[in-house]
Amino acid sequence: MARLVVISNRVAVPKARGVAGAQGGLAGALNSALKANGGIWFGWSGEETDEFTGSINYVKSADGVTTATIDLEHQDLEEYYNGYANSTLWPLFHYRIDLAKYEREFGKGYERVNDLFADSVLPLIENGDNVWVHDYHLMPLGDCLRKRGVTNRMGFFLHTPWPPTNLFVSLPYHERLVRSLLQFDLLGFQCDAWLDSFLHYCWKELGAVVDHDTGKISLDGGTTIARAYPIGIDFEHFSSKGDTGEARQAQQRLLSSTRHRTAMIGVDRLDYSKGLPERLDGIARFFDRYPERVRDLVFIQIAPPSREDIGSYQHIRATLEQKAGQINGARSEVDLVPIRYVNKGHSQEELYGFYRAAKIGLVTPLRDGMNLVAKEYVAAQDPEDPGVLILSRFAGAAPQLDCDGEGALLINPHSADDIAHHIRLALDMPLEERKARYQKMIVTVRDDNVQRWTENFIADLAEVAG
Ligand code: G6P
Repeated sequence: MARLVVISNRVAVPKARGVAGAQGGLAGALNSALKANGGIWFGWSGEETDEFTGSINYVKSADGVTTATIDLEHQDLEEYYNGYANSTLWPLFHYRIDLAKYEREFGKGYERVNDLFADSVLPLIENGDNVWVHDYHLMPLGDCLRKRGVTNRMGFFLHTPWPPTNLFVSLPYHERLVRSLLQFDLLGFQCDAWLDSFLHYCWKELGAVVDHDTGKISLDGGTTIARAYPIGIDFEHFSSKGDTGEARQAQQRLLSSTRHRTAMIGVDRLDYSKGLPERLDGIARFFDRYPERVRDLVFIQIAPPSREDIGSYQHIRATLEQKAGQINGARSEVDLVPIRYVNKGHSQEELYGFYRAAKIGLVTPLRDGMNLVAKEYVAAQDPEDPGVLILSRFAGAAPQLDCDGEGALLINPHSADDIAHHIRLALDMPLEERKARYQKMIVTVRDDNVQRWTENFIADLAEVAG
């Protein structure tokens, strides 16, 4: 079996405290792929250095996964990570061109760090390795590696949405970025919607020949295959958390503190793409429309802060604090606070326990590549008394979890009325319907798991190239 070289901005270095929590589902997904294939995971250490020396830090985990990381200089982090990746591409890819910053220095920093990644990882790539690059931080890396003579099979997976063409063309030098992406042999997207937008761009703006059935893109004598590979969770691993004392304790903690009320939960990185202010508006609307139900519901929002050096993230945090404060101020009683807003991160065990105790999962991003919280929420439910998932129609997970209208309750996250209405439906849903919806969703959550995702991507990579 060919070795795997995974390259991503973040790397879950074994035992590095505080790293895994900040990474969403990416860490777990890639760790399982490396466990199965052997190989190396290369990326940024998460640390800043005064001067980049080219030295690589290696750590080998107990289960045989080797991570290789580099530290980055302050200016590189400002222009590449806080700059182009998270102030230009992230907002643009989540349809927020109002927040996107198009600074020349950011673009230069992005290219410089991609070159630096290429120089550093080059000696680690052996003949026959499959190279798998992840996410919007490293889109030019395939091109950088090809220019350094790498002929290995190379694939790229985008964990975010890909925006419609008329938004994407607001990016200066958009052509150059996509042409560099086409140096990969295989491009993966989370769902058909993002794939279709990408294919449309290649056809319309680059004049490429696009075969929608196979995903083949032909341009200037080269070909690339682009397909959708919806990512899943590590179902076995996550489910095993349910047997831990920590999970049971967390479940009890939540249950005993919400007695006689239904707990509804949201768990998100504190990011403007997650639709958190709109979610709180929806909850406030529920309380306004059904004042007699205020005592029936407690909402727990867990939102660990993220990308705190960036202005738009500081802004969203301040907005949420104000909104949560206003709603609670207006509706709290001495023995009741309707919204518990928590900025702390929690372990997977604790989250499992919280999900299981919460009879409604509220996942309402304005735009999301996939959203694994929705899948984890389903995985943690008690099959005999499952909770209801309320899910944004704009999450990549929606096509999978709607299960032909009989799975998650799909909502429009921009509409406070829609959110309020579905909270009421979820609160009053009879056990039989909850069970039926859960049965539909659990099949895809269990079967379309992260192992299948990696197997599919790697199998296609082996087939399309060479
Ligand atoms: C999203 C991105 C990941 C990123 C994660 C956490 O899920 O797709 O690539 O690692 O957010 O963001 P951070 O900026 O902390 O790495």
